[in-house]
Amino acid sequence: MTAPLRLGIAGLGTVGLGVLDIVRKQPDLLAHRAGRPIEITGISARSHNKDRGMDLSGYAWEADPVALAKRDDVDVFVELIGGDTGPALDATKAAISAGKDVVTANKAMLAHHGQDLAETAEKAGAVIRFEAAVAGGIPVVKALTEGLAGNVITRVMGVMNGTCNYILTRMESAGLPYDEVFAEADALGYLEADPNLDVGGIDAGHKLSLLAAIAFGTKVSFDAVELEGIGRITIEDIAQAADMGYKIKLLGVAQMTGRGLEQRMSPCLVPDDSPLGQLQGGTNMVVIEGDSAGQIVLRGAGAGRGPTASAVMADVIDLARGFRVSTFGRPATALTQAIPAKAAAPAPYYLRMTLQDKPGALAKVATVLGEAGISVDRMRQYGHSDATAPVLIVTHKTTRDALDHAITGFTDTKVVVGSPVAIRIESV
Ligand code: HSE
Repeated sequence: MTAPLRLGIAGLGTVGLGVLDIVRKQPDLLAHRAGRPIEITGISARSHNKDRGMDLSGYAWEADPVALAKRDDVDVFVELIGGDTGPALDATKAAISAGKDVVTANKAMLAHHGQDLAETAEKAGAVIRFEAAVAGGIPVVKALTEGLAGNVITRVMGVMNGTCNYILTRMESAGLPYDEVFAEADALGYLEADPNLDVGGIDAGHKLSLLAAIAFGTKVSFDAVELEGIGRITIEDIAQAADMGYKIKLLGVAQMTGRGLEQRMSPCLVPDDSPLGQLQGGTNMVVIEGDSAGQIVLRGAGAGRGPTASAVMADVIDLARGFRVSTFGRPATALTQAIPAKAAAPAPYYLRMTLQDKPGALAKVATVLGEAGISVDRMRQYGHSDATAPVLIVTHKTTRDALDHAITGFTDTKVVVGSPVAIRIESV
């Protein structure tokens, strides 16, 4: 049989141990699929003596992941440390310099350094694969780079942070406010060490920027992702959006437009009967639109030991088979610098505001919208107190600029109480 493919695994957290599990559990299956045995020769983690519930004595131990990356008996360096700089980046660079292939689950590192790493890897004749970095167990990187390689991709969108989807769907099903569900998610261990990576949309933004690079052949440009988290979403927004036939999702959208590359990760309304609208709990969904294939919907676990390790193994098996696709699906030097679209494409918006309950208040709001060129599609007024009335408006397509202009104009009417809430409605 062909020589084994030898792995060095850096990082023995949830995902690292999941990879060990798979390699130990079904070596024959992996060898048959890969055409050669897959072995783990070395491991590295922060703490050597921690009880990880499995015998690790058969693997060479390296305290320093850089040393592991350079070992002669390691063919593929599996980076599962995490973090956009520090040991993960140092060890990845060391592996590439030593001409070794890298498999990583590290979206933050690639979102910030992906272009440099891809160029360096190509010069060194090495390959970087990162299926596990985006949407956990969903094979979305492979779908874009392989299954849909014959398509012009027109749009990629999705729910790519399970924690945010858990929070939003739990707020709706339990009727609980954001802060309470956030605390619940924390107690369940769903949140990243820095929760803002989740609820601030950063983690999902990293993932979107990687998919956009593959889809549109552009250099990863995470800094150009328009980011907004879910912290301002209230239980009223969720209930009233539901009443109008929508769900609120932290939705990522990347599309190439005549005005440049649009990359957004922000709360959006989607129809409640759409696949994205139906997505419950900590699950992920990625929707890809190609000129020939049409719309493809992928749904599955976006995190966790088994799903993420499954994605790591898919990359490892590709490398064992000798399948060596470029990091972002085409040579790194051929990726272009995207011009970021200055504004999102026009869309309908959901507008929630509280009005003073007196004659002519609604007419004043309608006048401001009309003067901003915004047409009302639907409107509903909810059970009002003595002095105020909550009003929900769904507009026809408009630009964010026009909407912001109208929101400023509302202040002058002196009938709008507090700050109106505006959320984009995405056509999915
Ligand atoms: N924290 C992420 C999520 C998983 O909740 O989906 C890792 O990217």
